[in-house]
Amino acid sequence: MQYRILSKIKETENAASFVLEPVNTVLKYEAGQFVTLIFNNRNNEEERRSYSISSSSILNEPLTITVKKVVNGAYSRKLVDTAQPGDILNGLAPAGFFTLPSATEQLQFAFFAAGSGITPVYAQIKTLLAIYDTIKIVLVYSNRSQKDTLFYKELQSMAEKYADRLVIQFLFNDASHYSHARLSASMVENIIRSHFPERMQLLWVYLCGPFQYMLMITMVLRGMGIRDTQIKKEQFTIHKSAAPQKPVDTALHMVHAMLGQSAYSWQVQYPDTILQAAKKQHIDLPYNCESGQCGACAAVCVSGKVWMYKNEVLMEDEIKTGRFLTCTAYPIEGDVQIRY
Ligand SMILES: Cc1cc2nc3c(=O)[nH]c(=O)nc-3n(C[C@H](O)[C@H](O)[C@H](O)COP(=O)(O)OP(=O)(O)OC[C@H]3O[C@@H](n4cnc5c(N)ncnc54)[C@H](O)[C@@H]3O)c2cc1C
Ligand code: FES
Repeated sequence: MQYRILSKIKETENAASFVLEPVNTVLKYEAGQFVTLIFNNRNNEEERRSYSISSSSILNEPLTITVKKVVNGAYSRKLVDTAQPGDILNGLAPAGFFTLPSATEQLQFAFFAAGSGITPVYAQIKTLLAIYDTIKIVLVYSNRSQKDTLFYKELQSMAEKYADRLVIQFLFNDASHYSHARLSASMVENIIRSHFPERMQLLWVYLCGPFQYMLMITMVLRGMGIRDTQIKKEQFTIHKSAAPQKPVDTALHMVHAMLGQSAYSWQVQYPDTILQAAKKQHIDLPYNCESGQCGACAAVCVSGKVWMYKNEVLMEDEIKTGRFLTCTAYPIEGDVQIRY
């Protein structure tokens, strides 16, 4: 599918938002999801990059992504420096599982975001504030400096407008005092304990930032008794890894898939995953990271069994409904039917 850039908004020196119009289609999306864009490199090979949606569909905001330039990055620079209204971008429909739980009235939320990691979180906070008028939200947001901070003014005015529900703690690397500069383990624990002294089993924590940053916060939360099922993470940086172990069954099996109105069947055998085997047959399935880390390739196993060697996206309740990642999965013990 394609997106037309309707407008471009300069957010900071190095970042811009793009209001996108899906061409000839209407799309639904949830706060926290992303759009994967497909580019062609100099050798005419496809390269994919995902960008989280910063708009809230509940507020009827048009689909918007926010891109921050990465030093020497191939496509973020191109988008921020040269993409213009009217340009057409190839891509995939919104996807991803960094989304809000469905019934939230009783819940409370802590968000930890660093740099461009605010993008999905910004959409989630706007959505929560629009839907619920009682829930408590705390955002801890780390940046190099105030001038590099995406949505700084908008977040400040939200914190003023919803002072009874939203607390924001900004951290800037260039702050003169350490306690306002870097997020430490003790700071994470103090923030959680002081803002959520009760009902910690109803706390959901959302993390989006560098790997080590999210790891540190996760370790602190685990130490406080917060379960992994209460913690959701979105990784912007993909670390590719090979399958650490073989599936129990490495025999050849058929995969039958429904993608929209189209039906496909193809053979899959270890070491190719379901996605890799489909790509070899030129079957155009959705994907991005090919490493179990983004969720763009997720499908539902309707019959038969699949086994994933890696999953950093889906939670247990999603897996129980048959959802799995085609990029890290193999069919086992027979043929499988899947749908998107
Ligand atoms: C689910 C998800 C959501 C995301 N959401 C957002 C978002 O909302 N906003 C946002 O700005 N970004 C987001 N990202 C990140 C985004 O997808 C891109 O990864 C980012 O824009 C960098 O892409 P690039 O093409 O500019 O950089 P790349 O070309 O991929 O390069 C990235 C870095 O790797 C280095 N590098 C690349 N190739 C080599 C090489 N061969 N040797 C050595 N170094 C190399 C580059 O120098 C650069 O520093 C998201 C990512 C994911 C997975
Ligand atoms: S393509 Fe990213 S999880 Fe499969």
